[in-house]
Amino acid sequence: MRVCVIGTGYVGLVTGVCLAHSGHQVICVDNNEEKVKLMRSGQSPIYEPGLSELMQSSMQKGSIEFTTDLAAGVDHGEIMFIAVGTPPLPNGESDTRYVEAVARGIGSNLKGGSEFKVIVNKSTVPIGSGDWVRMIVMDGFNEANEGASEPSFAVVSNPEFLREGSAVHDTFNPDRIVLGSNEAQALSMMEKLYQPIITREFAEDKELPQVPVVKTDLSSAEMVKYAANAFLATKISFVNEVANICDRVGADVVQVAQGIGLDSRIGGKFLQAGIGWGGSCFPKDVSALIHTANDYGYEAQLMKSAVSVNQHQRTIAIEKLQSELKILKGKTVGLLGLTFKPDTDDMRDAPALTLIEQLNRLGAKVKAYDPIVSQTGMRHGLSNVYVETDPERLADSCDALVLVTDWSQFKTLDYGAMAKLMNMPVMIDGRNFLDPTEMRSLGYRYVGVGR
Ligand SMILES: NC(=O)c1ccc[n+]([C@@H]2O[C@H](COP(=O)([O-])OP(=O)(O)OC[C@H]3O[C@@H](n4cnc5c(N)ncnc54)[C@H](O)[C@@H]3O)[C@@H](O)[C@H]2O)c1
Repeated sequence: MRVCVIGTGYVGLVTGVCLAHSGHQVICVDNNEEKVKLMRSGQSPIYEPGLSELMQSSMQKGSIEFTTDLAAGVDHGEIMFIAVGTPPLPNGESDTRYVEAVARGIGSNLKGGSEFKVIVNKSTVPIGSGDWVRMIVMDGFNEANEGASEPSFAVVSNPEFLREGSAVHDTFNPDRIVLGSNEAQALSMMEKLYQPIITREFAEDKELPQVPVVKTDLSSAEMVKYAANAFLATKISFVNEVANICDRVGADVVQVAQGIGLDSRIGGKFLQAGIGWGGSCFPKDVSALIHTANDYGYEAQLMKSAVSVNQHQRTIAIEKLQSELKILKGKTVGLLGLTFKPDTDDMRDAPALTLIEQLNRLGAKVKAYDPIVSQTGMRHGLSNVYVETDPERLADSCDALVLVTDWSQFKTLDYGAMAKLMNMPVMIDGRNFLDPTEMRSLGYRYVGVGR
């Protein structure tokens, strides 16, 4: 099928590349000229395992191209994905101005009475945005085509559930595909588009049953995305709260999580206690849902509590450092990891940023080592932190280390050699990622979260 993807960030680029790999003809549109230049040269602007290779092979086959020309994309696409950012506004509401600009742009480039097209909201948008996008597309069309016959199109909500760090894998191995629309023709085109994924053509385990397709109305599909992220964020906040109680009563939250996670009604995923959730989705999606609830006269108390537990959790590492080092002024703290989770270069709302800001405020010097940030030199607006090129240089003259991101590489660092370089071998394990007994045997004062 002919596909146009508008916005080539973590979602848009992965979607475009995976659809091209599935046999579709894809044009990716982005208004960032630098990004488009980079992608045309065969390089991915983001770090995502497996993405560059797949992108290059699709380019060689001629099934994907990159452009800044929205008109060309709209002309090409029988299915058009809107995959631009919806960042949070200061009041928690979702900033939909990029979606609005794209919807208007699509409208002004549609041709009246032409072939039926599907406009897909892939961006996470506030509930009710499906009808709003339709209205903006029509406004854009009417402004550009006075008196022309109406274009034929439908809006579908197709929320994205990929996880950064395993986005390509998740796209080919989804737990479900959610399609929100009342128009049968649009739904059948979407099912045709996803057929190779639904039938697990590119899945690791081809024996698995077909991917379930959940068909809903527009608003319910939009709600599915928010409710899923709010649930996962609340689950993490729940286990973090249990960890804080464990810390006080002397229980081990790792054992407790195993004990409750084996209950199939609860499940073991998202039960790892630590220094809190972050990233580009959970914080903004939970805030947006709280905001929407408020707009409609409902106070989402449970979600507000999940946010407030999370805000407190980010300060836990500071409390533990103060308890170990007492005065932080004049001390040097080394952060192991900067990105909000492993296998991504994404720093949006990463707990490391809160730590850097608070440690600086308390007069400590902050150093960091991150497998991606240190190697690529990508700084993503980082300031007040010395980014070191290897773990030994990080440990050198540190009064404490804080493990912030559970990169797999951090399991096998030479912690013995690092301890010898430190002023004081203190390890605050913000992800309960290391073996306490082993760390203590290497001479560390080891402190986890709730253990
Ligand atoms: N990142 C994730 O893990 C994830 C997961 C699920 C859903 N989402 C949702 O998907 C959406 C996109 O997220 P993302 O992380 O990919 O965003 P991103 O910020 O990484 O990418 C957005 C892209 O859109 C481009 N863009 C902005 N305005 C444009 C315009 N007018 N025309 C063309 N291109 C334009 C930007 O240049 C950028 O490349 C958001 O709504 C987000 O909430 C993200």
